[in-house]
Amino acid sequence: MFKVAVIGGSGMLGRALVDELTQQTSWKVVATAFSRPSAQTVALDIRDTGAVERFIEQTAPDAVVIAAAERRPDVCERDPALARALNVDAVRTIAAAADRRGAWTLSISTDYVFDGTHPPYRHDNAPAPLNAYGHSKLEGERALTETTDRGCVLRLPLLYGPIVNWSESAVTSLVPAIAASAAPGGEPATMDAWAIRYPTFTPDVAVVIRQMLERHARGEPITGIVQWSGDEPMTKYEIAVRLAEALQLDAHLMPQHTPADATPRPHNCHLASSRLEELGIGRRTPFDIAIRQVLTAFPWQGARSPA
Ligand SMILES: NC(=O)c1ccc[n+]([C@@H]2O[C@H](COP(=O)([O-])OP(=O)(O)OC[C@H]3O[C@@H](n4cnc5c(N)ncnc54)[C@H](OP(=O)(O)O)[C@@H]3O)[C@@H](O)[C@H]2O)c1
Repeated sequence: MFKVAVIGGSGMLGRALVDELTQQTSWKVVATAFSRPSAQTVALDIRDTGAVERFIEQTAPDAVVIAAAERRPDVCERDPALARALNVDAVRTIAAAADRRGAWTLSISTDYVFDGTHPPYRHDNAPAPLNAYGHSKLEGERALTETTDRGCVLRLPLLYGPIVNWSESAVTSLVPAIAASAAPGGEPATMDAWAIRYPTFTPDVAVVIRQMLERHARGEPITGIVQWSGDEPMTKYEIAVRLAEALQLDAHLMPQHTPADATPRPHNCHLASSRLEELGIGRRTPFDIAIRQVLTAFPWQGARSPA
């Protein structure tokens, strides 16, 4: 039986992936969690080399997907040691342990490895990260490719999907401010209208990863670097307008046309998905449909059902 270990199965992407993979009845899926363990997950701290090695030995997976990371740019900026431990050193440890067992490792990376000045970016364009998060993820990519020939990096842009709290995704984290601006006497909410993002739905990414795993299971593993992205460009201001429409909130939104973040962020890192598309891999759910699914499953208190 084909066995997949999902490291970081409790995170936003990891949960969508576990949901997708467990529908493959002929596959066995073993998911790990750190601070949010459950009956369905194995507790694992990926900073603990011995624990990682024991987990891989005992699980004996055919493939390992690394969805665990520190993905918050502000935290990476403040705590580069934590960013390195999770985004670089742990990737090396996991990939080495998987390689010893002959397993294929898929590690998730980010569009923030690019500086955002010359989109669209192909997988082989030169990276030039602007912030600590992007630097740590680029080093993580190199840690994977240096450690194993049986590995693949999947770069992704801004993600959204089923959530367990509003702050889990940079898309849904806008909802509280949108709702506050719509309340009686509410102050207008200022939203970034400078950086161009390509919000990408985690269940679509889960399908992409499942399709990649299927190729591996048939003996045609994908190696090197691949990228996947939604195809609808939006600023956070435009995302907020669409969220307000879906929530039927009369929001007062103000576009901010110059960057105002403490952490430097790229302008437009559009990722070309051509390598996977040429393999017939991919699915894209339109944003307006996907976001209504998210808001229906996790309703904003006091809001009407998504329009
Ligand atoms: N979110 C985005 O917009 C975005 C965009 C581009 C790329 N990515 C990349 O996509 C991947 C998944 O991101 P995500 O948004 O799903 O992240 P997330 O929701 O923050 O999930 C992070 C996962 O890492 C686990 N984790 C944290 N510290 C750990 C530790 N010490 N040991 C073991 N596991 C640990 C968490 O476990 P617990 O929750 O149980 O503690 C959780 O399962 C990451 O590589 C990220 O860089 C994300």
